[in-house]
Amino acid sequence: MLYSEEKIKAALGDHRDTVKIIIDDVTASTNDKGKAIAASGESKNTLILAYRQHKGKGRMGRSFFSPEGGIYMSLVIPKTGLDPEDIPLITPAAAVAVCRAIETLTPAEPKIKWVNDIFCNGGKAAGILTETVFSSEDFFSVVGIGINLIPPKGGFPAELNGIASSVYGEGEEIPQDIMSVLAGTVTRELLDLTVTIPERGFSEEYRRRSFVIGKDARVIKNGIPTEAHIVDIDKNCRLGVIYRDGSEEYLLCGEISLRF
Ligand code: BTN
Repeated sequence: MLYSEEKIKAALGDHRDTVKIIIDDVTASTNDKGKAIAASGESKNTLILAYRQHKGKGRMGRSFFSPEGGIYMSLVIPKTGLDPEDIPLITPAAAVAVCRAIETLTPAEPKIKWVNDIFCNGGKAAGILTETVFSSEDFFSVVGIGINLIPPKGGFPAELNGIASSVYGEGEEIPQDIMSVLAGTVTRELLDLTVTIPERGFSEEYRRRSFVIGKDARVIKNGIPTEAHIVDIDKNCRLGVIYRDGSEEYLLCGEISLRF
């Protein structure tokens, strides 16, 4: 499975001329490369793709397992035009973009686990890490997306057993250009969704694609887990929870665990 710049551009549609594409065989982290590009003042949207990462980063300081067979991409968006308080909505927008692309192009039925995980085939098949680089007048968003496309050779590491999954299962037929078409489609959808953030154009879709409402969870804040019941996702993609003591909270960012 190889990337083709031509196929990526075709999938970018109207955005084909506004996105610079960089394809690396291996890099430490496409997000780190994206942050360096942002810091250099690049004025064009830039999509960085790698076949493998040797220092792939997840949220909360975790690593992201990035062997061959996955899509590791970061989209650098200079001058999003967003208000700073809207920055946290970029990750939910990316989650919707990933779901739309997977649902349209593959047999999988993606679902969102608030806030940034995409589940397919019973486990986490994709994750999103959005980082922000501030410049004097504006800020750059670096939206990093890792998609486990096929089961890794040799399987997932033991610590991901029962947690990680992939978009395609063992033995499923993989379309030849799927890496390029998925990466280009996710990018196109994300660029389209980003401009709708101020009017919360996709929150209803984010809510509909989420599978956590009505479930019991542990809410992890500052490393401390608290048991809660999930009751809502609002128009700002905040998670509404009720704790055991009856108190309620809407969370803008953070982490939940559904495994007890
Ligand atoms: C998470 O699930 O915690 C977020 C995972 C984000 C992984 C992607 S892979 C491409 C980009 N580069 C990185 O180092 N991380 C993101």
